[in-house]
Amino acid sequence: MRRSIVAGNWKMNGNLEVNAELIAGILKEKSSAQGIEVLVCPPAIYVAQVSGLLEGSDIGVGAQNASAFESGAFTGEVSLPMLADFAVRYVIVGHSERRALFAESDGQVAEKARAVLLAGMTPIVCVGETLEEREAGGTLEVVSRQLRAVCDGLDADQLAGMVVAYEPVWAIGTGRTATPEQAQEVHAALRALIAEADGKAGLEVRILYGGSVNAENAAQLFDKPDIDGGLVGGASLKAKDFIAICSAAA
Ligand code: G3P
Repeated sequence: MRRSIVAGNWKMNGNLEVNAELIAGILKEKSSAQGIEVLVCPPAIYVAQVSGLLEGSDIGVGAQNASAFESGAFTGEVSLPMLADFAVRYVIVGHSERRALFAESDGQVAEKARAVLLAGMTPIVCVGETLEEREAGGTLEVVSRQLRAVCDGLDADQLAGMVVAYEPVWAIGTGRTATPEQAQEVHAALRALIAEADGKAGLEVRILYGGSVNAENAAQLFDKPDIDGGLVGGASLKAKDFIAICSAAA
């Protein structure tokens, strides 16, 4: 039995005041979402603030990105040990915005995922196809390539311990959600790919859906057998909506 996760990816949004209000709202509403893992991923500069606000709660803190290097001359980067100092346990890697806007390659994403696992944290590995790739019938080929790059060389425990997020690029921030059937098809293929490497890991690995998830469509998506929760962007910036999505996964 896989425990569902709902993660809020705040992207480059928020400030001290807005974050404090959002976290207060989430903590107030949270009781309706028992039994699942809930986490929020603020911008790196606010990780310390949000970790402090969530201290003593069962809501986790994730990072949106991290360096694969431990320390040294990497101006502007944030390392995994730095994030660990502020109770970060999850790190999103390979978000499509990082791939498209910051030219992160499959190889770099794989290095980051490996570094996160070696640091004893959980990578949330994002994969997803563009609209052109979907329309050309290339969806499964693209997401399989992206996931295979990460899985190569991981042992069974590492495969089972990571989290995968399927985020079709055309559904991110567009209000155009993948249908539950479209998402399920891809999730099943991603699970099968991991099961090829290790059957038990295939059963255990959690695969989240991301892309215009909201309070209205979440329940139908999470109802599908291979969808273990969501990675939520825009709707995670409103406490009520975010908790409604968490409740749909509970
Ligand atoms: O990582 C979450 C994401 O990219 C989806 O964003 O705003 O479509 O929920 P949004």
